[in-house]
Amino acid sequence: MNGRTSGSDPHTDHSGTFDVVEIGSLRLEHPVLNGSGTFDAIAARRAFGDALLERFPFSAFVSKTITPEPRAGNPPPRLFETPSGMINSIGLPNKGLDGFLRDDLPQLAELPVPLVVSVMATDQEGFRSLVDGVGSRDEVAAIELNVSCPNVKSGLIVGEQPAETMALCEALRPLTEKPLIVKLTPNTADPAAVAVAAEQGGADAVSLINTLRATALDPATGTAWLGAGSGGLSGPAVRPIALDQVRRVAGEVTVPVIGMGGIETGSDALDFLALGASAVAVGTASFRDPGAGERVRIELEALRGQAPALHLN
Ligand SMILES: Cc1cc2nc3c(=O)[nH]c(=O)nc-3n(C[C@H](O)[C@H](O)[C@H](O)COP(=O)(O)O)c2cc1C
Repeated sequence: MNGRTSGSDPHTDHSGTFDVVEIGSLRLEHPVLNGSGTFDAIAARRAFGDALLERFPFSAFVSKTITPEPRAGNPPPRLFETPSGMINSIGLPNKGLDGFLRDDLPQLAELPVPLVVSVMATDQEGFRSLVDGVGSRDEVAAIELNVSCPNVKSGLIVGEQPAETMALCEALRPLTEKPLIVKLTPNTADPAAVAVAAEQGGADAVSLINTLRATALDPATGTAWLGAGSGGLSGPAVRPIALDQVRRVAGEVTVPVIGMGGIETGSDALDFLALGASAVAVGTASFRDPGAGERVRIELEALRGQAPALHLN
């Protein structure tokens, strides 16, 4: 496998405190990003003011996923706490492409780091309009394709099928020169096959894992707790699964891998880097502590010098 440790990673240079991670034209000054949908930078700016800009926790900001049309999201309840994790069924509420470009993009463009916009649609047409719409904007540094979505024509979840993932990437690749990151779903038997398909279709990087499909019952009634019936599990409970999937994916692709799933500390992040990730993302941990991303970066920096040169299979 291509264990991406200091000195062996073709996607990094070693000029600063941290290796710069390069994903096509996207340059990350340090390896810690946010997971899409887990850090509301606009709300954080309201809460913390310009202090947020002076100490922005992430090397790029990944927006929550937007869809072609506005979505209200799922009925409540939308969250269920589990041992060491949480199930969410937020359901991608968002203002749609036009609302995002009009209301959110100008505010996100003020952040001091590159902006990655996460997009999702239920057919290629919808993905095309999203990639065209955000790809034409200078404020956008890269696009993340959230493929944990059903294709309305086939009924299949795109990211669970290598052929569907490759076809989508091939259709979108010619539409933009901006880096395309494919956010992989863990809900598939062979995530590495999907990652390879994404790479062959023209993706510049893959990110993983998205949430694991999960259900919880209301003990009082024995019926589904979540308004949507089921949701996705995240947090420390999923970390060993995420580590394994990152290991398997990084062993099969040559593009950079962004690893996430339950990262709470610099040591957790280091595990992902040791298993082949070029960068990591902090997700659920930011809900409890909006400073988690910065803490993970500082802890990682302290640990980096002690990192063993692991090449695990
Ligand atoms: C409340 C919540 C909302 C999320 N929204 C999105 C989203 O809009 N798009 C997406 O690709 N992933 C979304 N995710 C998945 C996270 O980005 C991340 O992949 C996953 O939670 C695993 O990382 P974690 O365990 O550190 O949270 C969401 C996760 C949570 C918990």
